[in-house]
Amino acid sequence: MSYHIVPFTKALSRSDFDCGKAPLNDWLQQQAGQQERRGNTRTFLAHEDGRALVVGYYASSATALTENDQSIEIGLRPGKYPRPAIRIVRLAVDKKHQGLGLGEMLVVHALSSVVQVAEKVGIEFVIVDALDLDAAAFYGRLGFSRLEDSPLRLVITVKEVPRLAW
Ligand SMILES: CC(C)(COP(=O)(O)OP(=O)(O)OC[C@H]1O[C@@H](n2cnc3c(N)ncnc32)[C@H](O)[C@@H]1OP(=O)(O)O)[C@@H](O)C(=O)NCCC(=O)NCCS
Repeated sequence: MSYHIVPFTKALSRSDFDCGKAPLNDWLQQQAGQQERRGNTRTFLAHEDGRALVVGYYASSATALTENDQSIEIGLRPGKYPRPAIRIVRLAVDKKHQGLGLGEMLVVHALSSVVQVAEKVGIEFVIVDALDLDAAAFYGRLGFSRLEDSPLRLVITVKEVPRLAW
């Protein structure tokens, strides 16, 4: 199956999207357009070659890590905050397309975009708040590390991204 990832567009239908998690379906169908217009998040949509249905998406926005986000492992120590970051605020794949590599493709797309932006604007980390331990395990396999005391909050350093081989 061949997928394309494109910037948010109303030309792709979102109404039948179902990833199995209602809040993620609702956000795509009811909030993504509004947040896009405000510039609050940027959403990218995945669709199959020649089909105008959304089968996956992610959204991201700028953020900063705080004193609560600590990890000796990746150099997040007390006293050196705030630290500029990009947050993947939503990520989901339609149930019919899960397990085919599309989730990984969306994360790689997000991280590649961050690396490009980080050449012009300071960004040290990419952060994600996983919905549950399953989702945290998914991000862990892709190279994200759990923060101390926050099993669902994971980060990766931007400088580490080009060294990852997916
Ligand atoms: C989590 C989700 C985005 C993964 O997308 P996907 O397309 O099914 O995942 P992929 O096929 O790209 O899998 C990539 C790798 O992660 C692994 N993986 C996928 N889902 C996983 C999970 N829930 N737990 C652990 N590992 C997982 C796969 O086995 C694969 O590893 P491999 O290459 O070694 O075989 C998708 O299942 C989903 O949308 N779930 C519902 C919504 C959700 O939980 N979103 C996360 C919000 S934080």
